[in-house]
Amino acid sequence: MSDELKRQAAERAVDDIESGMRLGIGTGSTAEFFVKALARRVREGLDIVGVPTSERTRKLAMELGIRLSTLDEMPQLDVTVDGADELDPNLALVKGGGGALLREKIVASASGQMIVIADASKQVPVLGRFPLPIEVVPFGLESTRLAILNVLAGLDLPQTLTLRGGAAQPFETDGGHFILDAHLQEIKNVKALADRLVAIPGVVDHGLFIQLATKAYVAAEDGVKTVFPL
Ligand code: 5RP
Repeated sequence: MSDELKRQAAERAVDDIESGMRLGIGTGSTAEFFVKALARRVREGLDIVGVPTSERTRKLAMELGIRLSTLDEMPQLDVTVDGADELDPNLALVKGGGGALLREKIVASASGQMIVIADASKQVPVLGRFPLPIEVVPFGLESTRLAILNVLAGLDLPQTLTLRGGAAQPFETDGGHFILDAHLQEIKNVKALADRLVAIPGVVDHGLFIQLATKAYVAAEDGVKTVFPL
């Protein structure tokens, strides 16, 4: 059922896309429904150019005949459509479950609007139930891990970090970085955590998206609701 809801949210977002738009295209299973629905509209004559947020999305979009570009060629975009792992009532997000958080954040930041598509299970009163992905440089991993634990302790947050994929074969992002997932349960101080994490030299970025989403389409059994930041 969750797949059906993801599809409904994705299809609603496609209705917002108009010919001439420069479009950021997200990553994940919900974003894949968006790519498929977008490709159908492109075959019907919708004329857009997309910038994918991952190699996985690039491959799918290319296979389906969506015209693609890069942020270097098209540094300002009209709208990005992407999924999320969690959204709070003010549309702060946790992203990066699919490992594409860095490119997703760069693309969303370069866009006039960011539309989030999600099923209602992603809505939470407070972020943190989904482990927070923190993208780190492989060099100095242990030092960076200790610095992150220090930040978590300073904010009274649980100090449990797991290296995605495990030590023997860590998951590698499109940028060649690793991901430490922080199991936090409830992040009451989202802004302070975000600021302190990016101040650590070995941290490339984290999955907290604050004041980036301008609208969300959230699909539940009783229909797709449009949500705006408070
Ligand atoms: C990938 C992401 C995804 O948007 C997020 O993980 C949601 O994925 P899904 O739509 O498969 O639930 O941030 O990095």
